[in-house]
Amino acid sequence: MATLHPMLVHFPIALLLFGVIADLVRAVGGDRYSWCATLGIWGTTAGLLMMLPAIGTGLLAHTFQPAPDLQVQDLINLHERLSYGLLILFGVLIAWRWDARGDDQSAMPVAYLTCAALGAICVIVIGAIGGRLVYRHGMGVTLPPTPPGVSAPAESTGP
Ligand code: HEM
Repeated sequence: MATLHPMLVHFPIALLLFGVIADLVRAVGGDRYSWCATLGIWGTTAGLLMMLPAIGTGLLAHTFQPAPDLQVQDLINLHERLSYGLLILFGVLIAWRWDARGDDQSAMPVAYLTCAALGAICVIVIGAIGGRLVYRHGMGVTLPPTPPGVSAPAESTGP
């Protein structure tokens, strides 16, 4: 069950980054790239929807493997809160976007693009914290038993 989270997180990460980059290309590239606005709205919407299973499986992963210490628990809390914040941010952006769909979107408001770019940075931070949980703190990792006569690997002490 805990392995579902690492499998599903790549979808919101890839789709949200793709959607935001497509919108930025549209904004910078001008009318020649107006088709990028369509990629932007669909990519961002799909990324937002894929956040739901990512969050659901993240909560499951945390239920099945509690944090080994307070430092790791703090990282998980940050990872989780940023995820909720991101869900709300892109939820608002996408609701506005679909609502304004009939209007001329050739010039996306700077406020939208700024918030979306901040959201994209937040996606990267969430992924980086997730990677730290796994590759530095061993969350979600099951080591094979150490063979007799071989010393166990040293525990990581870094943040
Ligand atoms: C309530 C929300 C969430 C919780 C409680 C949560 C919890 C966790 C936990 C416990 C881990 C380490 C163990 C494991 O992989 O099973 C992890 C890893 C990770 N999480 Fe989350 N997560 C949440 C949402 C998200 C979201 C929305 C994303 C992506 C946008 C994400 C991206 C990642 C990534 C990239 C990893 C590293 C996976 C790997 O390399 O194996 N998480 N998360």
